[in-house]
This record gives sequence, C-alpha cells and structure tokens, in this order.
Amino acid sequence: MKKLKAGVLGATGMVGQRFVSLLERHPWFELAAVAASPRSAGKRYENAVSGRWNMQSAVPGMAKGMILKEVEKDMEAISREVDFVFSALDMEKDEIKKIEEKYASMGIPVVSNNSAHRWTSDVPMIIPEVNPEHAALIDIQRKNRGWERGFIAVKPNCSIQSYVPIIKALESFNPEKIIVTTLQAISGAGKTFETWPEMKDNVIPLIGGEEEKSENEPMKVLGKLVEDRIEQAKSPEISATCIRVPVSDGHMASISLHLGKEADKESIINALGHYKNPIAHLSLPSATKEFIKYFEEPDRPQTGLDRDFENGMGITAGRLRKDAIIGWKMVALSHNTLRGAAGGAVLMAELLAAKGYIKPNG
Ligand SMILES: NC(=O)c1ccc[n+]([C@@H]2O[C@H](COP(=O)([O-])OP(=O)(O)OC[C@H]3O[C@@H](n4cnc5c(N)ncnc54)[C@H](OP(=O)(O)O)[C@@H]3O)[C@@H](O)[C@H]2O)c1
Repeated sequence: MKKLKAGVLGATGMVGQRFVSLLERHPWFELAAVAASPRSAGKRYENAVSGRWNMQSAVPGMAKGMILKEVEKDMEAISREVDFVFSALDMEKDEIKKIEEKYASMGIPVVSNNSAHRWTSDVPMIIPEVNPEHAALIDIQRKNRGWERGFIAVKPNCSIQSYVPIIKALESFNPEKIIVTTLQAISGAGKTFETWPEMKDNVIPLIGGEEEKSENEPMKVLGKLVEDRIEQAKSPEISATCIRVPVSDGHMASISLHLGKEADKESIINALGHYKNPIAHLSLPSATKEFIKYFEEPDRPQTGLDRDFENGMGITAGRLRKDAIIGWKMVALSHNTLRGAAGGAVLMAELLAAKGYIKPNG
C-alpha cells in the first residue's frame, strides 16, 4: 500500500514533536509537511526545535532537513503536499477553528488534538476503542458543509483518557456517579521542568478549564449517534478535580464510583481485563494488544513504571477496593502525550483511513 502523506500543523510544539516522532516509521503514513507559526517558518525543522526537543529519541532523520511552512499563509502549498493533516496548534480557539475549517474546505481531512471543535455538533470526538462508530458523523458533516474530501475529527482532552475507558468497560454494571481526581503531568501544559521550574517540589491545585472538560467531554464520547447528531450520555454524573503534579509524563486518576448494579470485585476486574475492544478486528498499527491492564500488586499502577504500557497507548488500573460512601474506588493511569494526545490522534487517523474517510489526495 502506498503511504498516506501526513502534514503536522504545530509541528514544533510538545504534541507536534510527538506526531513527528510517531510518523518516523509508521507503516501507513509518512511525514510530508511540517508547519508552525511565522516564528519558525522558513527554518529547517532540526533548527526550529533545537533547544526545545522534548522527546527521548532524537529528531527523526526524515524531518531534520524539512523546511517549516507557515500554517495559515502556506495553506494552499501544504494542501497540495498532503493527504491529511494532524493539528496540534496552540492558538486562540476561534483562530484554530477557522484554520481547521479552511483546511477541511480545501479537501484536507483534519485530525485534531485541539479543543476548538470538540463541541461543534457535526464534529466527532473519538477515543477509537470507546466510540469508533461516531466516525459516521463525518458523512453528516460533509453533507452539512458541502465538503467532499475534507472533514474535521477531534480527540478528547488528555485528562479523561484514564477513566472514560474504565467507565465504558464497566457499562454493564451501570456506572451512575463518578468522583475523579486527576494528577496531571507537566507535559500536558506543553512544559518541562526546565521551562517550568516552579513545578519542582510543588503541586498546583488548578488547571484552568480542565475540570469542565473532564466532566463534560465524557458525555459526548459516551453518547449515541442518533440520526444526524450525537445524543449525549445522561449518566454517569461526573465530578472532577484536576491537579498539576511534578511528573514529566502520565496522568493518573483516582476514581470513586457508584455502580447501579450489584457487582463484586472479581467481576469488576474481569470486566476491565476482558473489555471487548471494538477496533480489535481492524489490526490498526498503533492499536494495543491489551487495552486495559489491571494490576493485582497493591502499589500499581505507578506513573514512572507504567505510563509506557503498550507503547504509551494502554490504560493501567489497580487498587480496586470498596468505598463506604460511594461504592468502589480505584486508580487508573494513561500517558498524556501518547494515548492522550498524538498517539490517540494517530490511532484515530488509522481508524479513519481503515474506514475509507482518509484516502490519497488525487
Ligand atoms: N501537551 C499535551 O499533553 C496536550 C494534550 C492534549 C491536548 N493538548 C493540546 O494540543 C495543542 C498543542 O499543545 P502543545 O503542548 O504541543 O503546545 P506547544 O508546545 O505550545 O506548541 C504549540 C504549537 O503551535 C504553534 N503555534 C503557536 N502560535 C501559532 C500561530 N500563530 N500560527 C501557527 N502556529 C502557531 C507553535 O509554533 P512555534 O513553535 O512556531 O511557536 C507550536 O508548533 C494545545 O491546544 C493543547 O491544549 C496538549
């Protein structure tokens, strides 16, 4: 199969660098264009990221000499060079909305990491293992907008990725109420300990706007596609507290949950470990073999030990125990820039390519 050509908008940033790294040896996609702000445009990629390359592996050879384009000004040139783009911009939401819509209207599928279009009614917000069927909303979107080839699809916020798969896996026990506290890594803010020294030996009990996203976005992801729209899920009710902790990568969630149906510990663990992954049959390159792993060890999952489970795409869980007030409590973990950002978006693009929504351009 000829590889699909991918562009990365915001290629110099924390998430953009992940996209560039994940595309290095991707079996279906190849990096065809990198774009960022006017500050970076015109520079060789390796020079533009020099001093701020945050990945453990080196800058991929194929990206080093690529000349960065400007996301807005070079839109036409970029759209001639790619079959689709990943969007990892950090700009005002209205500007991102306009840019993503312009690319889509020019026939370029946009797989976005940004929150700008998460609540646009004809834009699907997808965790591939949870709601792959929402991809069908793309047909409605294209019809609404008169787009033949282009579309916008988004992934949800990184904070929800450790507990929404758990809620979905426990669907048959009817989760009614969730109280979750997320302990979120500094890379989620696009930062490192060098660029955010205040985070050393510190905890900050506020991540602006994160609690609203953490409470509301699961309701769209867990919703149902009814005719031409997503009918949001009515339960569970979710109350979230989001806290920044001194960790480089990996968002942990402490989850208390009330299940509407009687369950014992063994059946809950069994439901987590035997989650019926709806995309397993597609054998997508970035898919996990094991999506949710439950640890019996009492002190797992740990961020440092377990964030890279299944190449950072799996969810780890543990410490399930009874809670005298709400019913049950447990802990879950996901990698925020892999599963929660670029990795989740690459997997979504694989799903959309497998479903025929992303095709070679021309
Ligand atoms: N980090 C995470 O774990 C995470 C997780 C989920 C979602 N997100 C979201 O993903 C997006 C990117 O996050 P990030 O952490 O990667 O941010 P970042 O490190 O600050 O990178 C931002 C990128 O946007 C580009 N950019 C900024 N202003 C621009 C402009 N006027 N025109 C064109 N490009 C512009 C930057 O280019 P220059 O280098 O040229 O300035 C850079 O490539 C954000 O919306 C963030 O909320 C992040």
